[in-house]
Amino acid sequence: MTEEFMRVAATSEIQADKMKMVHYKGQVICLANIMGKYYAIRNTCTHMGGPLAQGKLEGHVVECPWHGSRFDLTTGEVKKGPAQTPEPVFEVKIEGTSILIRPK
Ligand code: FES
Repeated sequence: MTEEFMRVAATSEIQADKMKMVHYKGQVICLANIMGKYYAIRNTCTHMGGPLAQGKLEGHVVECPWHGSRFDLTTGEVKKGPAQTPEPVFEVKIEGTSILIRPK
């Protein structure tokens, strides 16, 4: 079943090449603005739960602040361990100045 889109932030809340932690139905999400395009993956690192939105953003890759795992924000894929498991990815839609997401 496809889940519904929910508004999680305003576009003005995330500057270019920055990330923000948002919530979708009890899940914590890392929302990123990469050169004006928005991407969302789960915020909780699949290694030991580090908060990805507090990590470093490099291009479309986020580095976990705890042990340096790297995830591709466009696919959720692990680019560098110690994490082994990809992050769930969310679909992002912009409506006016609102950012909406839903699980992919
Ligand atoms: S918790 Fe993210 S790399 Fe360990």
